[in-house]
Amino acid sequence: MIPVWAQLLYLFGAICFILALKGLSGPKTARSGNLIGAFAAVLACTIPFFYADLDHIPLILGAIAIGSIGGFYGARVVQMTQMPQMVALFNGVGGGAAALVALVELHEIVDFGADVQKFILVATAFTVLVGSVSFAGSVVTFAKLQDLITSRPVVFPGLPVLFGGGFVAAIVLSGVLVSEPVMWAGILIGLLGLLIGLLLVLPVGGADVPIVISLLNAFTGLTVAAGGYVLSNTLLLVAGTLVGAAGTFLTLLMAGAMGRSVANILFGALKGGSTLGAGEASDRPVRSAGPEDVAILLGYADRVIVVPGYGLAVAQAQHTLRELVDVLAERGTKVDYAIHPVAGRMPGHMNVLMAEAQVPYEQLIEMDEINGEFKHTDVVLVVGANDVVNPAARTTPSAPIYGMPILNADDAKQVVFLKRSMRPGFAGIENELLFEPTTTLMFGDAKDTLGKLLTAVKAL
Ligand code: TAP
Repeated sequence: MIPVWAQLLYLFGAICFILALKGLSGPKTARSGNLIGAFAAVLACTIPFFYADLDHIPLILGAIAIGSIGGFYGARVVQMTQMPQMVALFNGVGGGAAALVALVELHEIVDFGADVQKFILVATAFTVLVGSVSFAGSVVTFAKLQDLITSRPVVFPGLPVLFGGGFVAAIVLSGVLVSEPVMWAGILIGLLGLLIGLLLVLPVGGADVPIVISLLNAFTGLTVAAGGYVLSNTLLLVAGTLVGAAGTFLTLLMAGAMGRSVANILFGALKGGSTLGAGEASDRPVRSAGPEDVAILLGYADRVIVVPGYGLAVAQAQHTLRELVDVLAERGTKVDYAIHPVAGRMPGHMNVLMAEAQVPYEQLIEMDEINGEFKHTDVVLVVGANDVVNPAARTTPSAPIYGMPILNADDAKQVVFLKRSMRPGFAGIENELLFEPTTTLMFGDAKDTLGKLLTAVKAL
């Protein structure tokens, strides 16, 4: 039995997790939300040492030390742009750990022949299966985002049959495990889970991978919640449910922002319709210009909208961009930033990036709010963005981003792109807007080109 004081502390931890989630929902409170969540996690890991009759304490402490050092080091060295793969890795480890814990519990049940409720066995089978799906799926998403394997959809004949067969076999084995707890069934369910996770994520390509991370995150949450039931640990149950619910909402929101259904994202490639991943650079002619010409365009505009994208984060040019915007504003130009919900590589990426450069929140305008203003805009400055202003999302039904709401940059009088080459964006498709007569390209790393632009605007 868990003593009352420990249960009260668990309740306190659960409240902290809820407050953490609340804090994480806004950029101003996100940092404190994160700290509250981390505090509750440490509390949750510490409490059992004071009441439970633990075996193998040195091993547990060793595992905690390895996890803490790995997590601390990873979080210190990760680049902002690598955050999605970091989340994938942490998420996968969580799912895998829950599956292993459930297997250990099953071992105890089998060893002691305990008379156990059927529902606990259902929860055990669920935890092992979904936890291993989440682990294998997350490892594949990590490998795709880290370019360790191709980010294009990987499909082969028989994949749907293998996937379906694996799933049915896992359900049958779960039935066996629930009717009579046996270790081999648990292990086979875990192995099938790894196969299903692999086959689930391999066909997902390019721009859809971050959504799958969020979906797998929801899976891990459900796994941990079921694990909490198996271990009779209320805090684990609450934390898992929160992660499961948050992950599900995030998945639906991101899929909505891209104009796609989750089923289409997961199984689109099997029907030949998923995104392509990296594409080829175009050699069609475009109009390019140097900093002085672009500075004249910007310097004499009354209304400018800046569209930040993934490339701005890569170049770490947010501070220079802010300086440029400040100088333009001092000259009397009205300038705002247009924030697309999936600009960058993770939810809120651009908001975080611009907040880092101390851009006031009021200048960050959401897509729906600013889209009507492009037609009254003199110059749109697109910095390291591509897909989020690609009109193919409106006009080309065969395009992988078709249906994704975009920023109406093409409505403006002039569009200036700052990018390094003619390579496409994450979805791997050409952007017709680059070839329009009203479009100018300024080639180079955004930090470098923005620096030159800043000097040229100041000299006007
Ligand atoms: P992208 O379409 O990926 O375009 C980024 C552009 O930045 C590229 O054209 C690239 O061109 C340029 N670039 C890269 N490094 C640069 C540098 N150092 N300096 C200057 N330019 C640089 O980005 P986006 O418009 O932000 O769109 C986001 C994409 O990610 C969408 O497809 C979206 O669906 C996907 N996605 C986002 C999320 C979330 S939640 N944010 C989730 C899932 C998927 P060069 O290589 O020629 O420089």
